[in-house]
Amino acid sequence: MEITKICCIGAGYVGGPTMAVIAQKCPHLTITVVDLNQERIDAWNDENTDNIPIFEPGLSAVVAETRGKNLFFSNAVEKAIEEAQIIFISVNTPTKTYGKGKGMAADLKYIELCARQIAKVAKDNKIVVEKSTLPVRTAEAIKSILDNTGNGVQFQILSNPEFLAEGTAISDLLHPDRILIGGDQTAEGQKAIQALTDIYANWVPRDKILTTNVWSSELSKLTANAFLAQRISSINALTELCEKTGADINEVARAIGMDSRIGPKFLKASVGFGGSCFKKDILNLVYIAKSYGLNETAAYWEQVIIMNDHQKKRFADKIVKTLYNTVAGKKISFLGWAFKKNTNDTRESAAIYIADDLINEQAAVCVYDPKVNQKKILSDLDYLETRSSQENAANVQSFDNPFEACQGAHAVAVLTEWEEFAHYDWKKIYDAMQKPAFVFDGRNILNKKEMQKIGFVYHGIGS
Ligand code: UDX
Ligand code: ADP
Repeated sequence: MEITKICCIGAGYVGGPTMAVIAQKCPHLTITVVDLNQERIDAWNDENTDNIPIFEPGLSAVVAETRGKNLFFSNAVEKAIEEAQIIFISVNTPTKTYGKGKGMAADLKYIELCARQIAKVAKDNKIVVEKSTLPVRTAEAIKSILDNTGNGVQFQILSNPEFLAEGTAISDLLHPDRILIGGDQTAEGQKAIQALTDIYANWVPRDKILTTNVWSSELSKLTANAFLAQRISSINALTELCEKTGADINEVARAIGMDSRIGPKFLKASVGFGGSCFKKDILNLVYIAKSYGLNETAAYWEQVIIMNDHQKKRFADKIVKTLYNTVAGKKISFLGWAFKKNTNDTRESAAIYIADDLINEQAAVCVYDPKVNQKKILSDLDYLETRSSQENAANVQSFDNPFEACQGAHAVAVLTEWEEFAHYDWKKIYDAMQKPAFVFDGRNILNKKEMQKIGFVYHGIGS
């Protein structure tokens, strides 16, 4: 089959940037990104591409270059499905909040809905590509829905996991370490793999395009994220020991990272990892292992999450303990709310959990994040369902300016590694704060000695 049209279901952090880059690199293809969320589609279509719903360095330029030429954003889901030869499924797969596997398994209701929609409208053979992170064997479920509810047309299901990291999505997409495509070992399966390989080969060297069976591909995605998260939990697991013994985790990370077998990346101690993938994917892995009765395997990976939760809790506890065991009525200012720098995404951000703990202790939390607004901050807290929306709103306030956010504060907590934070006039912040002025650097981005010289009581992670 000749590929001329692609449809992507889901205009989120994965679907949007991925399709923008495919559009840029494949001007001969027409790509339509669809979403049920009208507001989101309207934002993608905003005349000013700086207003697109996702902040990602370089993205708005790629959208400006391609939108209206061969990249389209639309709510007409069925039309786009019907016309395309390849359909990417890029919808969200949150952890289940109800029923069997609650808090662990992936909620596949959005995926199932997509499969049913595709089955309903497809009038000719299609290649369906799983782009969302999915539990192993989801492809089988999608195939079963498509084959049993469809109009008798043939579907090939491919697993093509996304490895982009937010904040660097465009460069990750342009220069991927590898592209992974899993498909059936049948002749039709191999043809479908070839069709998708040909698309990526427009800009990715062929030797970086790896093909496997569907299940290896699905499991590789979960495994990659589990390994990355494990490195962070491993380094974080030593921070408490460093604080007790006088070792410095930054020095330890540097020393071990120079061993070429270990390598220097993903060894930055922090207040804890966040993001939409790590926790969800590990929980998924744990759930799958448990469902096969592999309890040791499940417990091994679960520990990565337990350590991360401990790290967040420990950070909040340390603030309370250091501030003379009470933060009631005290102003604690957060620099950063996003789960990492260079994104406006806040899913699973450590800041949410730290704020929740501090509000329980009746602190007044003030926030400055260059890309996150008050509405988002409050909806993140409301999502935890710890207290009413009114109570959250009464205890948290966000500011457009870091100096205002820190005015009169008892302590500042750095929760996202935004580069601008390291370049502030910290003397000015110090002068505006209550004394003694405390800084809790949850990202180890400030210079400890300089902060102490200004007069701050400085607490980093693991030093
Ligand atoms: C991750 C994977 O990196 C990516 O390949 C996959 O496709 C999706 O999940 P993402 O969640 O966007 O990407 O960001 P990542 O850079 O992995 O960071 C995740 C979290 O770990 C962030 O909160 C980050 O601040 C934290 N982190 C990262 C650390 O605390 N220390 C580190 O050394 C690295
Ligand atoms: P990710 O980080 O995986 O891209 P997001 O939540 O940012 O996740 O994006 C997923 C998008 O998928 C959301 O905008 C959501 O509205 C959309 N979506 C979910 N189910 C469907 C569906 N059946 N049809 C169209 N869009 C959907």
